Amino acid sequence: MKALVLSGGKGTRLRPITHTSAKQLVPIANKPILFYGLEAIAEAGIREVGIIVGETEKEIRAAVGTGSKWGLRVTYIPQEAPLGLAHAVKIAEPFIKKDDFVMYLGDNLLKEGLGGLVKEFNQKKPNSLILLMKVKHPEQFGVAELLDGKVKKLEEKPKNPKSDLALVGVYLFDSSIFKAVNAIKPSKRGELEITDAIQYLIDKKMKVLPQTVSGWWKDTGRLDDLLEANRLVLSAAKGRNEGSVDKNSKIEGSVIIEKGAKIVNSTVRGPAIIGENAEIVNSYVGPYTSIYFNSKLKNSEIEHSIVLENSVIEDIKRIEGSLIGQNATVKQSPTKPSAYRIMIGDSSRVEIP
Ligand code: G1P
Repeated sequence: MKALVLSGGKGTRLRPITHTSAKQLVPIANKPILFYGLEAIAEAGIREVGIIVGETEKEIRAAVGTGSKWGLRVTYIPQEAPLGLAHAVKIAEPFIKKDDFVMYLGDNLLKEGLGGLVKEFNQKKPNSLILLMKVKHPEQFGVAELLDGKVKKLEEKPKNPKSDLALVGVYLFDSSIFKAVNAIKPSKRGELEITDAIQYLIDKKMKVLPQTVSGWWKDTGRLDDLLEANRLVLSAAKGRNEGSVDKNSKIEGSVIIEKGAKIVNSTVRGPAIIGENAEIVNSYVGPYTSIYFNSKLKNSEIEHSIVLENSVIEDIKRIEGSLIGQNATVKQSPTKPSAYRIMIGDSSRVEIP
């Protein structure tokens, strides 16, 4: 079995972060989202991985390299434009050849791993195994309609969903999927949809097995989902201290303090992670917060948030539910008149009480 990881796309729903960085490389608990998928693939015993890359190819290559870190052999497959998930499968055929494969969307996080799914696929030998999960807003996903435990119909982002079962971004296929992706036509949004390709298999009476996700699953395409994924991953993490905490600081609950991080006269209430060489001074870091490397928090409070690398937060009363990009500064202005003075990226969002 091989793996095909999709790491192209524009990440429009996470702008402005994705103006400068691939959405798959946004860190969850200080680790790029994409790495969780690669780890799961390696743990399931898969070695050959094709990664579909687009505009952010350079960054993805710099972060993943040859894949040897995970014991994987990575082949990069450039997609000239984001023409859909089924288009990605189409261009991956020379890499996959006749093998079975798991397709993993690089911005998805799946708690249960892939081992069980690969085993199930090898035992039952369907043409495709799809994963489903009940969601609140099925209209934002591919939606499955089941009848007697079998997949009757799949629809991509329907206005009036027939069920609340969303297609999770992890799929297992045998090589019959190539016939399907070559037969279907682009959808209304102009993409070749994997949902339509699987529907093609169903229409041709091929074996498509549904399975419901037992743990949690997150598609991290939006800010709220990203923060929720961060909360879930941090909640399961064990605390450790590889940095320094002074006498006047308090560490409560499970907190990961990475190498070179300094906590001075502050309270950190876990679950939380403080990245390499980050500094927390006269501050409070509350639950579900990830501070990435080299960032500094001074005289401020933050909770349920993600701060990327090399950023500074100073003299800010309280930040919650926020995502702060790389090299950003959020601070109180010392000069009068006292007013909001902001320089923010395109498509940014600022909410002020
Ligand atoms: C894609 C698929 C959709 C699936 C979702 C899971 O949507 O088209 O069927 O439910 O991934 O994350 P996208 O996130 O590309 O809009």
